[in-house]
Amino acid sequence: MSKKILLSGVKPTGRPHIGNYFGAMKQFVDLFNANDYQCYFFIADYHALNFIQNAAEMNQNILDLAIDYLALGLDPKTAVLYKQSDVSAHTELSWIFDTIVTMPYLMRAHAYKDAEAKNKEINVGTFNYPVLMAADILLYDTDVVPVGADQKQHVEYARDIAEKFNFIFCGATKDGKNADKAIFKLPEPLILESVATVPGTDGRKMSKSYNNTIPLFATREEITKAVMSIVTDSGGPEAGGIPANVYAMHKLLKSEAELTSLYDTNKGKYKALKEALIEDMDAFIKPLREKRVEIAKDSQAVIEILRDGAERANEVASKKLSAVKKVIGVL
Ligand code: TYM
Repeated sequence: MSKKILLSGVKPTGRPHIGNYFGAMKQFVDLFNANDYQCYFFIADYHALNFIQNAAEMNQNILDLAIDYLALGLDPKTAVLYKQSDVSAHTELSWIFDTIVTMPYLMRAHAYKDAEAKNKEINVGTFNYPVLMAADILLYDTDVVPVGADQKQHVEYARDIAEKFNFIFCGATKDGKNADKAIFKLPEPLILESVATVPGTDGRKMSKSYNNTIPLFATREEITKAVMSIVTDSGGPEAGGIPANVYAMHKLLKSEAELTSLYDTNKGKYKALKEALIEDMDAFIKPLREKRVEIAKDSQAVIEILRDGAERANEVASKKLSAVKKVIGVL
C-alpha cells in the first residue's frame, strides 16, 4: 500500500524562529522520522515575493532555508525538498483556481482582513495568497499539512477549493456522489494544540513582524539577548511569582514536572529563571546550530538537492496538472 502524503512549506523571509520550529517544523521532522508518510517540504518563494523585492536577499534566503531544512535532519533522498518557483504547475493551477474562487470568499481570509484593517495597500499576490497555497497542497494529493494555527484557515480554503473544483468539473458532490471522479483529495491540517501559537518574547504570537523572536539557529549571545528581553509582566498568571512569558517558552523545552520544581525553588527570581531558560535553550539549539554550520560549507550540494527535489516534485505535479487540464477541456 502506498504511503500517505505529507506536505508543508515555509516562506524564505528571513531566519526561521522557534515559533516556526515548535509550531510546524518539528512536526515535519517527527513525522518524517516516523516513516509513515511520503514527505514534500518546500520553500514558498513565490509567497515570499509579496514581502521581499530584492534578488540578492531572496537568493540568500532560499539557500539559507534549504540549509535550515537539512540541518533539522530531513533526508532529501527520502523527502522531496524543493522550491515552489521550480515547479511551475503551482502557479498554473493557482490561475485555474482563480477562475472558480470568488472575491468575497477571499475577502474573508484573516490575512487579507488584517492587512485591510491596517489600511495597507494590498497587492493581488497577497489577496490571492490562499489560492496559490491551495495549489501547493492539492497538486500532490496531500493527506496532511502540518502547520501552526495561523495557517489553519488556509488549509480549510484548500479543502473548499478542492471541493468546488471536484463539483464543477468532475460532478463529485460533498455527500460522495461521483467520488471516484474527483480530481483532488481533501487535505487535513495537522496542528498540535500545545504549540499551535508559540508566544514571542513579548507574549504575543512569535513573529518576525513583531520583532519578538528567538531564531531557531541563534547563537548563545542572541539567545541571551532575546531571553533577557522577555517581558516579565507581574500581573495575571504571574501573580504567583511565575513569569508567564518565560514559563511559556520554557515549556517548549522541558516537561511540566521538571519546570514545577525549578519554578517553585526560584519563585519571584526572574533573573535566575531567565538564566535557566538560556541554558536550556542553548542546550537545545547548539547541536542544530553546529550541524547547520557543517551543511552550509557546501552550498553547491544544497543547490543540487533543490534541483533534484524540483525534478521529483515536477514529475508528480505535472501529472496532476495534466489531469486537471483534461477535465477543464484545455488538453
Ligand atoms: P510561514 O513561513 O509564515 O511559517 C512557517 C510555519 O510556521 C508556523 N508558525 C508558527 N506556529 C506556531 N507559533 C508561531 N508563533 C508561529 N509562527 C509561524 C506557521 O503556521 C507555518 O506552519 N503560508 C505558509 C507557507 C506555505 C505553506 C504552503 C504551508 C505556503 N504554501 C502550503 C503549508 C502548505 C507560511 O506563510 O508559513
